[in-house]
Amino acid sequence: MHSTILVTGGAGYIGSHTLVALLEDGHRVVVLDDLSNASPAALARVGEIAGKPVQLIRGDVRDGALLDQIFAMHPIDCVLHLAGVKAVGESVANPQKYFEINTQGSLALFSAMQRAGVARAVFSSTATVYGAPEFVPLTEAAALRPESPYATSKLAVEYMLAGFARAHSWRAINLRYFNPVGAHPSGRIGEDPLGEPANLFPYIAQVAGKRRQILSIFGNDYPTADGTCERDYIHVCDLAAGHVAAVNYLLNHAMPGECPAVNLGTGQAYSVLQVLAQWQATCGFDIAHQIAPRRAGDVPSYFANPAGAQSLFGWRARQDLARMCADHWAWQQQNPHGYNAD
Ligand code: UD1
Repeated sequence: MHSTILVTGGAGYIGSHTLVALLEDGHRVVVLDDLSNASPAALARVGEIAGKPVQLIRGDVRDGALLDQIFAMHPIDCVLHLAGVKAVGESVANPQKYFEINTQGSLALFSAMQRAGVARAVFSSTATVYGAPEFVPLTEAAALRPESPYATSKLAVEYMLAGFARAHSWRAINLRYFNPVGAHPSGRIGEDPLGEPANLFPYIAQVAGKRRQILSIFGNDYPTADGTCERDYIHVCDLAAGHVAAVNYLLNHAMPGECPAVNLGTGQAYSVLQVLAQWQATCGFDIAHQIAPRRAGDVPSYFANPAGAQSLFGWRARQDLARMCADHWAWQQQNPHGYNAD
């Protein structure tokens, strides 16, 4: 029932919340992370929240010899592969980095699993593999049109994992995340972006926290109700619970050889202005903002049909937008400079 899970990228934003959820569900965890975009303080705080220390193996997911050692030392039942790079703009400028870390890294990991006889994996993919959608909400059967090397590097791994699953009778799942936001309700772990945030929630959080001056709203002339883009924001703790549900499904119910893709979203879209209004209500003050030109590559409306996750492994998102903002704001207030002070 309770198993040992190797979590690559476990010290990151999604990884740290997922570790808490796994530990609270009674699983044992082993973390592999190179700390290139994460802090060891996050793991210390995960340990505090869950009441159990978390062991970090610091290293690169492309290091086959290290992976062999990890699988030899720990009785891993399932791998949660979250390690990777995720900046869309950077991937356009430097595709090599994305294929090396995301795609080659996954190949190294799956090959080591194969050598060790580990036969269950959950892969952290992205809804960005759908590209500009023809229809919303997006089901997993929607056309796949990755538009950046980031999205292509992730989709390549989805296909790779499906190939390993079929060939070696693995049980596997590709999780396609929508827009993860928020933080653990304790305020102890959360998103700690390097440099200027590229995403909406951390940007608003830093303007509200007076670390940045003003939010630019990228376009208000889209074909949506209020002219700003709509997205499917999902509380990171809901996302973490989705990973636990996926792992438990692989451990208890999945058929050998299967590797479905599953959306993790709420099914509810909010516009940039709706998000801003909720943030202002949460903080109790106005947040400086201005209308700016559209950002290249943005699509007007993007949200999930989350029915697949509900029917496959009984998961659905539970937290609303107010909770996402409140928890993100509590994290920002308690940690104005992220984990830097630790
Ligand atoms: C982005 C990534 C996606 C990734 C996701 C993670 C792109 C094209 N896509 O999605 O691959 O999985 O983050 O959460 O980068 N906005 C502003 N002002 C800002 C920042 C954002 O108006 O300062 C707007 C954007 O134009 C967009 C919405 O807010 O309409 C959400 O943006 P963001 O948080 O960056 O998420 P996505 O672009 O949906």
